[in-house]
Amino acid sequence: MKLEEVKTLLKEKNQEQLLKFYDELSDEQREKLLEQISEIDFSLIDTIDNEGDASPKGEITPIRDVASIKDIADNHTRFEQVGLEAIEKGEVAALLLAGGMGTRLGSDKPKGMFNIGETKDLFIFECIVNNLMDVVDKAGKWIPFFIMTSEKNDADTRAFFEEHAYFGYNPDFIDFFKQEMAPACDFNGKIFLEEKDRVATSPNGNGGWYISLINAGLRDKAKEVGVKYLNAFSVDNVLQRMADPVFVGAMIDGDYRSASKVVAKTEPTERVGCMCLEDGKPSIVEYYELTDEMAHQKLDTGEYAYNYGVTLNYLFTIEDLEKNVETNMPVHVVRKKIVHVDDDGNTVRPEEENGFKFETLILDMVHQMDDCLAYEVDRKKEFAPIKNRTGVDSVDTAKELLKLNGVEL
Ligand code: UTP
Repeated sequence: MKLEEVKTLLKEKNQEQLLKFYDELSDEQREKLLEQISEIDFSLIDTIDNEGDASPKGEITPIRDVASIKDIADNHTRFEQVGLEAIEKGEVAALLLAGGMGTRLGSDKPKGMFNIGETKDLFIFECIVNNLMDVVDKAGKWIPFFIMTSEKNDADTRAFFEEHAYFGYNPDFIDFFKQEMAPACDFNGKIFLEEKDRVATSPNGNGGWYISLINAGLRDKAKEVGVKYLNAFSVDNVLQRMADPVFVGAMIDGDYRSASKVVAKTEPTERVGCMCLEDGKPSIVEYYELTDEMAHQKLDTGEYAYNYGVTLNYLFTIEDLEKNVETNMPVHVVRKKIVHVDDDGNTVRPEEENGFKFETLILDMVHQMDDCLAYEVDRKKEFAPIKNRTGVDSVDTAKELLKLNGVEL
């Protein structure tokens, strides 16, 4: 877009502040800024009034499709065989969601580059690759491995993998792709400038991965090589097992359209989203949406009705993603601390939340599926999320859990 067109657009959208420093910029900076503005999805800003209710819930009822640890143990051999067959046929791909900013961890590098080793280097990315390698070794087959980054961390992530020789993974089976960015604005909907020549943007949440995979041409590549199942998982759970043959086998054996690794809650009010049905379809109810009564409700089996927390490890089929995933996923409007330049051009690093970011979430994709198997794993063996430096779900708790599982740090 040319300057005049951008000016007209910004006037119409009431966002003229984005050109405040235009006159001070070099030709190159001007060009980049105009390009960035022309790519903004301004419709996101209209959603700020929906803060907190991106996905109005239908009728929430307990999910019955649960494979408990005992059920899985009883059928372990069969599930594993079915899963390994699919992996050996090249039908399963792993998809790492590593586009997040990891702000709670407080490092300005990609979260996966964080070193949790004590006597040696042990990076989060390395833990992920090591866990995936266990399956590769067992199946005797390289598993296509897609890694989602964002504009903010793509170069660092790629360089880090290359520098560490992909931690022993075969680079021919790794594809990086970038997720899309969304603008960040103040509480009145005015989009921030991050720098005089740059609009403040941030990764658009982990729900955009499938669309970004398509945009990068990788969905087609996956289909061409025969991939049917995509296992999407978070970067920060250093104990998770991905492309887990038993998990894959349980989903295929039960003819489910999707599956989610879950853990039994530590207490009924644990702050974790849990699997449920919403208007009869699989869904995830956030802890703050569960009433106290629901949190303590029991099934006729004596078990809590909303007992299974999600671990951000999902299996989808490409076939169902094609049929169901809508491009207009619900947008979650979230309060964040947003670094920006003020009217005088000074950089502000706020201590308090000062605006909104816009995110779509992978958990909303579960609700678009016809069914979802809640597959229980032992949290001591498979759930060590690293969200914070210390305290709950932190580097400290993850280290303890890694040691408990015999991982040398
Ligand atoms: P989180 O919700 O923990 O967000 O992401 P985060 O950005 O990593 O961390 P905070 O909230 O800033 O501290 C859960 C998973 O989703 C990925 C993350 O990389 C992580 O694996 N994610 C999150 C994306 O891939 N893209 C995003 O835009 C957001």
